Amino acid sequence: MSALSYVTPTASSPWGTYLAQIEAVEPYLGGLARWVETLRRPKRCLIVDVPIELDDGRVAHFEGYRVQHNLSRGPGKGGLRYHPDVNLEEVMALAGWMTIKNAAVNLPFGGAKGGVRVDPKALSIKELERLTRRYTSEIGIVIGPGRDIPAPDVNTNAQVMAWMMDTYSANVGATATGVVTGKPVPLGGSLGRVKATGRGVFIVGREAARLLGIEVRGARVALQGFGNVGSAAAETFCAAGAKIVAVQDHGGTVFRGDGLDVAALTAHVAHTGTVAGFAGGEALGVDEFWSTPCEFLVPAALEGQLHAQRATQVHARIVLEAANGPTTPDADRILAERGVTVIPDVIANAGGVTVSYFEWVQDFSSFFWTEDEINDRLDRILTGAFRHVWEMHEQLRLPLRTAAFVVACTRVLQARVDRGLYP
Ligand SMILES: NC(=O)c1ccc[n+]([C@@H]2O[C@H](COP(=O)([O-])OP(=O)(O)OC[C@H]3O[C@@H](n4cnc5c(N)ncnc54)[C@H](O)[C@@H]3O)[C@@H](O)[C@H]2O)c1
Repeated sequence: MSALSYVTPTASSPWGTYLAQIEAVEPYLGGLARWVETLRRPKRCLIVDVPIELDDGRVAHFEGYRVQHNLSRGPGKGGLRYHPDVNLEEVMALAGWMTIKNAAVNLPFGGAKGGVRVDPKALSIKELERLTRRYTSEIGIVIGPGRDIPAPDVNTNAQVMAWMMDTYSANVGATATGVVTGKPVPLGGSLGRVKATGRGVFIVGREAARLLGIEVRGARVALQGFGNVGSAAAETFCAAGAKIVAVQDHGGTVFRGDGLDVAALTAHVAHTGTVAGFAGGEALGVDEFWSTPCEFLVPAALEGQLHAQRATQVHARIVLEAANGPTTPDADRILAERGVTVIPDVIANAGGVTVSYFEWVQDFSSFFWTEDEINDRLDRILTGAFRHVWEMHEQLRLPLRTAAFVVACTRVLQARVDRGLYP
């Protein structure tokens, strides 16, 4: 048997999910469908070896990736993930979703993503810094403020972005704040960036609820993932009068029917690293979480968490995808049959990249906006983008995910046509 091409997905991989979503949109692309193969092939995949010296003197090697899926509409943009399960297919899928997301919101970026196959919790802070700097240096040949701009994702944060900015700047011989977004505010970061993805999840959820006639005040929210995105989404939903009834993370699940105290839960997680053991709620089993009766079920952890078997148990009105690729294609079909509205990741979690775009613009002009300006602009852009997707969903009678893909793929492929094929 001949070896498989790298673009052929392995069983239940996120890349397979992404390709199934492209297949679903193809019939709605009209004449642009001629170019759809572009979306099934990442433009460029860089795989690098990242050797570092550990604190005990041993040398360890890690796999690093940077995938630029499509650059037709502008420089690459997408996060950097540190996780022991990172592989090429996952990074290709995440980069593909960035292409779709940036186009769905009409940001002037292509799609990219990076990852290092590492458990960052097993490294000291100095080892993590060496890993980040060596990885940045290795991918330095493809990133840059006008080429490809990384940002935080799972297990990376403002400190990691500061090390990346410093390393890239040292290598090019000039401070280049615009090479990454999600930096600390004193280093050219933007106010509002840390909570932007979670805030955006709320904004899109609020708009969907309005169109579906659901009241946000008093609504029940069940959240999987209580990291950067999940905790900020919880905070914003609470501020609007919703109740966070269940939270699950890698360590366990907590439930409280009349609403968890989010500030106390945040303090508990800061102290212990997990929601497990929180005294202000009762513990639930891993699978019990998915059947929590709620208005909003918000997956905010990793890909593939909402699979077919879990979809049959869901008791929610809306699945609001804060994570990238949390719902498998089978689960999508089951949720649609059961009348659950799924708000796709490519619009629901676009708040982070939208404020990253603001950060990049502010870095270019060295002129910084207030947090109110950031939040107002974020609200306007996301609300407008979501309404456009909703109109497409009603006009073509398509699921919201396919409608978002129609909007986005049309923009990407039209840019491809307008630019023309070289040579
Ligand atoms: N950070 C951003 O700005 C951003 C932007 C857009 C999308 N996203 C997506 O949002 C998701 C979360 O990202 P983040 O930045 O909040 O990451 P994070 O590392 O801050 O948090 C991840 C959370 O997921 C939980 N988790 C991990 N494995 C789990 C499991 N098997 N079961 C239950 N919970 C589990 C962790 O305990 C943690 O609470 C990812 O899909 C990411 O790609 C992030």
